[in-house]
Amino acid sequence: MVLTAADKTNVKGVFAKIGGQADEYGADALERMFATYPATKTYFPHFDLGKGSAQVKGHGKKVAGALAEAVNHIDDLAGALSKLSDLHAQKLRVDPVNFKLLGQCFLVAVATRNPGLLSPEVHASLDKFLCAVGTVLTAKYR
Ligand code: HEM
Repeated sequence: MVLTAADKTNVKGVFAKIGGQADEYGADALERMFATYPATKTYFPHFDLGKGSAQVKGHGKKVAGALAEAVNHIDDLAGALSKLSDLHAQKLRVDPVNFKLLGQCFLVAVATRNPGLLSPEVHASLDKFLCAVGTVLTAKYR
């Protein structure tokens, strides 16, 4: 998944726009993932997944923070996400298919809050970026 210079500019533009509210986008994406793809809840048996859950909000903040960090190191995603890659691939062993699902839900969270932001080109760039993050986070299975 090669991000072009235009993709990188588009992705940075989205994150600059969502800026301080990124935490809410993370929680919204998680809520959408759990509601739309209930099997994803099996990875969080220790969480309260009810509406407005403080744990989901807290986790959304962590996910959003990791994505923002990835954007800041968009030329070295593998390096920036190395520890998280160890965690997801080696410890949590999250099935790679789930990253696609969370990525789609994050796209919807962005789209619903920012009508007009996701032109087809920006949508494609953000999708590529989220896929690239998922690829790194699932690269260390063995
Ligand atoms: C933990 C990021 C996708 C399941 C985490 C943490 C971060 C993170 C930052 C916290 C690590 C820590 O506390 O040190 C991401 C990102 C993702 C992603 C950026 C993709 C964009 C997924 C998916 C699943 C998942 C698709 C499963 C459906 C988990 C679980 C934990 C975790 C179970 C541990 C939660 C806990 O016990 O606190 N993730 N994650 N992650 N992630 Fe992910």
